[in-house]
Amino acid sequence: MQAFRIHGGRPLRGTVAINGSKNAALPLMAAALLTDEPVTLHAVPDLADTRNMRKLLRSLGVEIAPPDADGAPHTCAMQATDPSQTTAEYDIVRTMRAGICVLGPLLAKRGHARVSMPGGCAIGTRPVDLHLRGLRALGAEITLDAGDIVATAPRDSQGHQRLIGRHVFLGGPNGSTVLGTANVLSAAALAQGTTVIECAACEPEIEDLGRLLISMGANIEGLGSPKITVHGVEQLGGAEHRVIPDRIEAGTYVIAAAISAGDVTLTNYPTCMLGAFHDRLDEVGVTLDHLDAPAGPAQENRRSVRVNAPRRLNPCHAVTQPHPGFPTDLQAQLMALLCLADGNSMVTEKIFPDRFLHVPELQRMGADIKRLGTNALIHGVRELVGAPVMASDLRASAGLVLAGLAARGQTVINRVYHLDRGYEKMELTLQQLGADIERFDAD
Ligand code: EPU
Repeated sequence: MQAFRIHGGRPLRGTVAINGSKNAALPLMAAALLTDEPVTLHAVPDLADTRNMRKLLRSLGVEIAPPDADGAPHTCAMQATDPSQTTAEYDIVRTMRAGICVLGPLLAKRGHARVSMPGGCAIGTRPVDLHLRGLRALGAEITLDAGDIVATAPRDSQGHQRLIGRHVFLGGPNGSTVLGTANVLSAAALAQGTTVIECAACEPEIEDLGRLLISMGANIEGLGSPKITVHGVEQLGGAEHRVIPDRIEAGTYVIAAAISAGDVTLTNYPTCMLGAFHDRLDEVGVTLDHLDAPAGPAQENRRSVRVNAPRRLNPCHAVTQPHPGFPTDLQAQLMALLCLADGNSMVTEKIFPDRFLHVPELQRMGADIKRLGTNALIHGVRELVGAPVMASDLRASAGLVLAGLAARGQTVINRVYHLDRGYEKMELTLQQLGADIERFDAD
């Protein structure tokens, strides 16, 4: 298994271009199942998860040009050519929970779907009850069989299988559901009649999916709000679309600059998607200078920013919440930074109550953290000390890399395949910024 070796203490300097968003790209790719015409996406990040999604879509009869065709490695040109395939196999879905986002498109377009039920993962139990509730509200008959979700669309008076537009409520104990909203939104685009999704996820990745669906011919109102109205259409056509920048990758590199007391500029930076993150950074004393003026609304989330990292970091209290609140996917990274703040901080996790596997690993590096239920109390220390640590999930691993960049001595992070799911060539990016980091085979 591969690992990272980091010698910490070097301030990072240079420029990083933020890649396209993983969590936007995955449901966008699944939307290719909604039409027989070509769907081409640009700025699809080259990650283990997007490679697995290509594999899953191919198994479902979607032709996809190889990633480097035409010398454009981030372009994903897809066309669904074999509608007879409706089974998403366990062997592919188990590698990536986002495999669930083929469920809505398959059901809406092909009338039937068999998708292996995703299991739990390191950040919690991850149920899919809201996805199923939403699709059932659109008339789908859903059963569970041998670990698979089996869903069938109702037949209309002429015997055609088609979902029915209805009122759908997607609120759960921890707010809405991002991929559940993606599933219902995609399915409703082809349903007969109007669907109103209440307590819809407001995440920018859902807005991006809605924008692609609209350019495919869907009729959608209210994107970015908790109430989305979808007037179903009979068919969708092809489209070409550029994936939004990855707000979580962006936030991770802001913290890399701050934790190493470096001088880093980020381009393609999604300023408007990171309000709550910027608010917490302000409190900590980390500010961003915008180096350009947006040329128009489309450029507001593709800015160039320079990170100002103070020598002394203030403590803060951060609470993860659905968008536009502080993103749970930046919780571990912020915690790594707060370990070095001057005072006591608190992090409260309201999306995935057990998403704290990075805590014992940070403690191994000298962090002073106490976990009390969904809160972590962090008493800032003067320094972190390198240690061998274990990556447990994608964002926890990112938090450990950040801690390693600041720590005295050598940190070895095992199981970096978690990082490869969500950060494109992270060690090369950090090397270019002057970090002493290398990938090696730990076996
Ligand atoms: N939930 C339910 N029932 C459901 C679905 C979700 O109770 O049917 C609960 C979850 O247990 C959680 C909350 O609702 O407490 C939110 O979960 P959500 O469904 O929104 O998560 P997701 O759609 O499965 C996406 C991202 C995650 C990110 C979350 C929250 C993708 C591929 N994944 O997951 O990203 O943490 O939204 O923002 O978009 C990551 O990138 O590292 C990652 C885990």
